[in-house]
Amino acid sequence: MKYLVLGSVNIDLTFRVDHIVNAGETLASESVSRNAGGKGANQAAALGKAGLEAYYGGKLGEDGEWILSKLRSFGVDTSLSVISSDCHTGQAIIQIDKSGQNCIVLDAGGNKMIDDDEIDSILSHFSAGDVIIMQNEVNSIATMMEKAHEKGMRICFNPSPFEDYLMTLPLSYVDTFFVNEIEGRTMAGWDKVPSSDEEFRELASDLLSIFPSAKFVLTAGKKGAYCVSAKDGIAYAPIVDYPVVDTTGAGDTFCGFFLAATERGMSNQEALEKASIASGIAVSRLGAMESMPFGKEVFGV
Ligand code: RIB
Repeated sequence: MKYLVLGSVNIDLTFRVDHIVNAGETLASESVSRNAGGKGANQAAALGKAGLEAYYGGKLGEDGEWILSKLRSFGVDTSLSVISSDCHTGQAIIQIDKSGQNCIVLDAGGNKMIDDDEIDSILSHFSAGDVIIMQNEVNSIATMMEKAHEKGMRICFNPSPFEDYLMTLPLSYVDTFFVNEIEGRTMAGWDKVPSSDEEFRELASDLLSIFPSAKFVLTAGKKGAYCVSAKDGIAYAPIVDYPVVDTTGAGDTFCGFFLAATERGMSNQEALEKASIASGIAVSRLGAMESMPFGKEVFGV
């Protein structure tokens, strides 16, 4: 089965800082590095590293070609990507504090310049049963969902970063949602912040009641992750505790390895456990896609 990520690619400029800078403050960084990133490209990297037949389709400038070559080294087919001289590659300014937490400012660049012909051309290489994975760092997500649905592709959606307009998309076409606690709460209309296991289970089941035919993978940070569907009920796995160096791309790693585990025939429970190992390894290293493990480290083969 083919896995297509139709999403963003960014050049991540990552500053290691004592603390996330405050309004009006000027802060010297301890180091700076230029890394390959973007939620779409990261998720494609995770799929490729995990051993799936992974394709990355997105739009970027010539300044980002090195990221495509990195993706290829992780086993991702990038031949469907659009490199344009009319745009620059998306940029992310990332601060990572002493505890490994990050904050990110984005400039979309080519990520928000994808046109319908380019979407058609990318999707023409896929057919019913293939999987498409999308996030919210590109334009025309509704069009992508409509066209993928028409083809009978299975749709995975990570509504990140969350914006209210996402709820107007044809979300009933989505087979699997990947949401963190904030995205999950917003989608479910919760003001309450879940803290106990019981509350996270309640949130997961509220999400399922809104989209009953979907599967929800709900990550809860240090509190672990849940997966709920009408068919299989609810599953839970705790985080696998690794020392935290850099959390950038942890959610992208989780998403890719959850799908890879499922593709290997594992249950939702096992898939959560494998994805937790993969994202635990990823946060213990610096960078986004570079920090992700290969499938052998997680699956043993
Ligand atoms: O999910 C992490 C990614 O978010 C970073 O690589 C950055 O580019 C932003 O898109």
